[in-house]
Amino acid sequence: MAENEAKSGGFFTNLVLEITQSPLNIALVCLIAVLVYKIIKSRQDVPTYREPEPELPKLKKRDFTVEELKKYDGTQEDGRVLVAVNGNVYDVTKGKRFYGPGGPYAAFGGRDASRGLATFSVSTKTDGYDDLSDLNTMEMDSVKEWEAQFKEKYDLVGKLLKPGEQPTNYSDEEDETPTAAGDKGKDD
Ligand code: HEM
Repeated sequence: MAENEAKSGGFFTNLVLEITQSPLNIALVCLIAVLVYKIIKSRQDVPTYREPEPELPKLKKRDFTVEELKKYDGTQEDGRVLVAVNGNVYDVTKGKRFYGPGGPYAAFGGRDASRGLATFSVSTKTDGYDDLSDLNTMEMDSVKEWEAQFKEKYDLVGKLLKPGEQPTNYSDEEDETPTAAGDKGKDD
């Protein structure tokens, strides 16, 4: 018995000595300790309720020129983000982590994302009006499939106007929206 204790004491002493002699081992022990701590803590934690970001008021239905769309890239005070797909403009603010500044699809924020979506390019930045006329059938089908996803998840705000096209008058539709903080009705 006593022999066993001595043996085990020796074993642990040796183990501690072994570990503390190598900085790599110390680092690994620290890493394990942190991971174990995190696992234990995550089990103990009462699931914390993350306050969702307050939703912005719904945008009044309206059409946008490419230029007007540009300011809705999430950098305005209210952080609203709009994206055009296949000629329609969607309010993607609730997907700001994707399309807002620093997001993986930030190149689409405040722009027409159709070409990027069609060509699976997250870096395609469409700046002027793009009539997409050079896209092939497969690419156009892809744009339409993407649009169906946007339609399901996000609010449709209006149309993307072709150069010279007049905006639709939506005044007969319900107006439930006060002007949003960043939307002063002016282009900067
Ligand atoms: C390595 C390549 C990629 C990976 C790993 C990836 C990953 C993802 C993931 C995990 C989501 C779902 C996120 C969620 O719903 O929480 C997502 C959504 C999305 N991805 Fe990608 N993606 C990739 C490439 C692309 C490319 C090339 C495009 C552009 C054509 C793209 C466009 C999108 C869009 C538009 C969404 C929807 C975001 C939304 O819900 O509004 N992705 N991606």
